[in-house]
Amino acid sequence: MKEELNKILENARREFENVPDIRTLEELRIKYLGKKGLLKEILGKLGSLDENMRKEVGKLANSIKNEIENIISAASSSIEKSAKEEKLKLGVEDISIPKSVPPLGYQHPITLVINKMVTIFKSMGYTVVDGPEMEEEYYNFEALNIPSHHPARDDHDSFFFGGGLLLRTHTSPVQIRTMKNKKPPIAIVVPGRCYRRDALDATHSPIFHQMEGLVVDKNISFADLKGTLLLWAKMMFGEDTTIRLRPDYFPFTEPSAELAVTCPVCHGKQCSVCKQTGWVELMGCGMVHPKVLENCNIDPEVYSGFAFGLGVERVAMTVYGIKDIRQFFENDIRLLRQFI
Ligand code: FA5
Repeated sequence: MKEELNKILENARREFENVPDIRTLEELRIKYLGKKGLLKEILGKLGSLDENMRKEVGKLANSIKNEIENIISAASSSIEKSAKEEKLKLGVEDISIPKSVPPLGYQHPITLVINKMVTIFKSMGYTVVDGPEMEEEYYNFEALNIPSHHPARDDHDSFFFGGGLLLRTHTSPVQIRTMKNKKPPIAIVVPGRCYRRDALDATHSPIFHQMEGLVVDKNISFADLKGTLLLWAKMMFGEDTTIRLRPDYFPFTEPSAELAVTCPVCHGKQCSVCKQTGWVELMGCGMVHPKVLENCNIDPEVYSGFAFGLGVERVAMTVYGIKDIRQFFENDIRLLRQFI
C-alpha cells in the first residue's frame, strides 16, 4: 500500500507539471483528491490493515495529500500568471492593475475666502441668499436711494443692456429683493459677482466679487453692527484683530462707515500689505436708510437694520498676500495650486 501511495505521488508530480488550463487542473484534482479519487480509494482499504500499519499508512497518505494540494496550488498560480502574460501580449487590458488616480483640483482662493466668510456668518445665524447678476436699475439704484441724477452713480460705471437692465454693480440690490419678499427679522449674507466699467489695474477689475450683509429687526443699533463686525474680524483674521470705523457716505445707509481691520499680515506693525499704516480698509457699512426700509414697505418707526458690503478680492489679497487682482482671473495653475 505504501508503494501504491508513493506511485500516486510520483504520477501526480508528472501529470501536474504541464497543466495547460484551470479546467484540466480541476479534472486532475478530482482524479487524485476527489471523493472517488485515487487517494480515497487507498484510504478505503486502511481498515484491512493491522493497527500499526494502519497508523503508518494513514500518516503517509496524509502527507501525500498535503503535497498534492501544494502541487495544485503552485500549478494554479502558474496557470494564472501565464494567462495574464498572454493577455498582455495580445494587448488585452489587465484589470487587476490599480487605476491611476486623476490629479485633484484645487479650490480658487476667492471660493475659499467666500466659504470661510459664509461659514462664520452661518455660525452667527445668517442665511445665504442669491440674486440675479443681470439686474433691474430699480433694484440696483432707485430702491437703494440712488436716483438717476445722483452723483453716486458715477462710482458705479455700469454695463447696461437697455430696457432698464444692467449687470449689477454691487450685491446691495439683493437687500431690496429680500426685504420686499420677507418680513423682519432678517439676517442674510449675499456672496456674488459684480460688474463695473472700471479700468483693469492692480486693484480693480471689471468683474469682481462682493459679499453683502443685512440685518433688520426691532431695536437694531449701530452697536450691533460694530459687535457683529468685530466678531467676524476676529474669527476671520485671528483673535488679536481689532477694527476701526470711520465716517463714510453711502446713499442707502445713514450713518455710514468704512471699516478697517488691523493688518492681518503684520498685526498692525506696518508692512507693504497695509501700505505702512497698520490698517486694511475692507468694507462699507452703516444703518439701513429709513427711505430704503420704506421702499420695501418696512416701517422705519418700528424696525431698524444694518448693512455691510465688502470686496472679496480685497479680503483674499490681504489674506494671501496677493499684490495684483489680475492674478485671480488669469487662472495660472501654479498660483491656484498654492491655496488649500
Ligand atoms: C458698495 O458697493 C456698497 N454696496 C457697499 C455697502 C453695502 C455699503 C452695504 C454699505 C452697506 P463700494 O463701491 O465701496 O461699496 O464697493 C465695495 C467694495 O467692492 C470696495 O471696497 C472694493 O473692495 C470692491 N470693489 C468695488 N469696485 C471694484 C472693482 N472694480 N474691482 C475690485 N473690487 C471692487
